[in-house]
Amino acid sequence: MVREFCKIMVAMVSALAAISLPTSIIAQGSASQPLFEYSAINHPVMGRSGMVASHNVLSSKIAAEILSNGGNAIDAGAALGFALAVTLPRAGNIGGGGFMLLHVAKLNKTIAIDFRETAPSAARQEMFFDDDGNVVLDETYRFSHKSSAIPGSVAGLAHIVEEYGTMTLAEVLAPAIRLARDGIEVTYDLAADLAFSQRLKNNPASLRKFYKPDGSNYEVGEIFKQPDLAWTLSEIAAEGVDAFYRGSVAEKIVADMEAHNGLITLDDLANYEVVEREPVRGTYRGYDIAAMPAPSSGGTHVIQMLNILENFPLADMGAESADALHLMAEAMKFSYADRSKYLGDPDFVGVPTETLVSKSYAKDIASKISMDKALSSDEIAPGDLAIYESDETTHYSVVDSEGNMVGNTYTLMFSFGSGVVIEGTGILMNNNMGNFTLRSDIPDAFGLMGSENNLIRPNRRPVSSMSPVLVSRDNKPVLMTGSPGGSKIISANMQMILNVLEFGMNIADASVAPRIHHQWRPDALEIESGISPDTVSLLMDKGQSIKFSQRSVNMGSLQTVMWKDGFFYGFSDPRRPGAGAIGVD
Ligand code: DON
Repeated sequence: MVREFCKIMVAMVSALAAISLPTSIIAQGSASQPLFEYSAINHPVMGRSGMVASHNVLSSKIAAEILSNGGNAIDAGAALGFALAVTLPRAGNIGGGGFMLLHVAKLNKTIAIDFRETAPSAARQEMFFDDDGNVVLDETYRFSHKSSAIPGSVAGLAHIVEEYGTMTLAEVLAPAIRLARDGIEVTYDLAADLAFSQRLKNNPASLRKFYKPDGSNYEVGEIFKQPDLAWTLSEIAAEGVDAFYRGSVAEKIVADMEAHNGLITLDDLANYEVVEREPVRGTYRGYDIAAMPAPSSGGTHVIQMLNILENFPLADMGAESADALHLMAEAMKFSYADRSKYLGDPDFVGVPTETLVSKSYAKDIASKISMDKALSSDEIAPGDLAIYESDETTHYSVVDSEGNMVGNTYTLMFSFGSGVVIEGTGILMNNNMGNFTLRSDIPDAFGLMGSENNLIRPNRRPVSSMSPVLVSRDNKPVLMTGSPGGSKIISANMQMILNVLEFGMNIADASVAPRIHHQWRPDALEIESGISPDTVSLLMDKGQSIKFSQRSVNMGSLQTVMWKDGFFYGFSDPRRPGAGAIGVD
């Protein structure tokens, strides 16, 4: 009787709630009247003519100004890439490399630009082994001239301007040259970053570039000038990319390499090539996904995870429910296991991308997943694909009103890369040799396992996780996103897409929502703070192995643009300080 009464009360309360609380309060509007979702907790910025989202608001402004002054998103994207090398030295770079997804409006074509760093021709698997054949993960591996692969950023940014932009290379370089020459005001973020980066203090050229003449730290509000970097950028503006790969800058890079046991030669620089690739494509509940193919693993495994999860009614389970998070974790384990075996540089090894992103393979994986019981990593192995044959990195997104789009994820690898600045150039070098697999039982610098497909070979590109992603529907763009975060780039991108497409969040709520990550090895489900302790208990009840020590570590930092009802929406993930999205009207 009491129970019946309670049931009736619950039903009445729910009915009242349904009457008095609309599920979302939306101001009505047309294409000229913004639709604003006032019920959301976080709000994206809006624009009518374009949008820029990057990890540094000063650089976002430079790109937004180019759009306002008639440049297209490709001009603005290239200028932003060069500007971040000055304003965000921990990740923005000309000494690293990355991956861009371009949509070129006049061709109605989406292109994957691979400007990943490449192993020098003298690189050998044994270079990080001792005399007894043991792998040595020491300073040489992490922070020396030997840890650098041949940089691709200058070639990649110049390539997009020259092929698809409307401005000259010198014009897109001009803002970065000005910032390097005249200086930038030191922000709280930059001051903290530099003060704690011991590796920069260990290299004499880095010490001179990033600290005052007496070796002390720059204070917040002081002006930080980078004259050597201004020289390098000016040489590129005057002579084109050849200055970096064949001319005055190349000579300085090689002289510094020779003086410090580095491997990069003049031939290595002269032979560097940007590769245009066909994006890897998939679908999720009627939306089309285009993303980065190998040698990045990012696009392939975002699509693989979405394919697996499409087999489950996630929306009914609810965002951040233990059931939905459990399924995501299981999908991650299977996908990262496959990543470890199959991914490599497609110019050297066969990568079975088509099978990895096939719906039938995903269905078979889905059938192995139990709602109640987590599989341990030992119970999961990379799939046998033969039977399916039939069938501190940074990201920015820039789009314009003509339909041009640039999603760029580029990196030095770790914060400030190898910590090595090339004497006289201001170029901070990457340590992306650390993304190669040294031995199949030893994880890479981000704890990721790999196979012989990703061993160090001359001129090979190491497997990456970086992946800008473009979601569209009926040939109209819906969402462009991307993130830093090493191995967590793939899971962060996937959760962004699910939060918007599956759980109906706006891009701001979708970015802020707490994330999880599992990369198969180690068998640990990492969770951001923000997931409730009750949910964590339910996940543990299902057998998920949860690392509490990891709760405080945040995962990635998404820079996202969305198209909706005739407006551009932008959002910079608050997981990195100083980031900013700017709408252009
Ligand atoms: O290519 C990769 O996957 C890594 N080098 C990316 C490094 C990274 O994202 C560091 N950022 N936080």
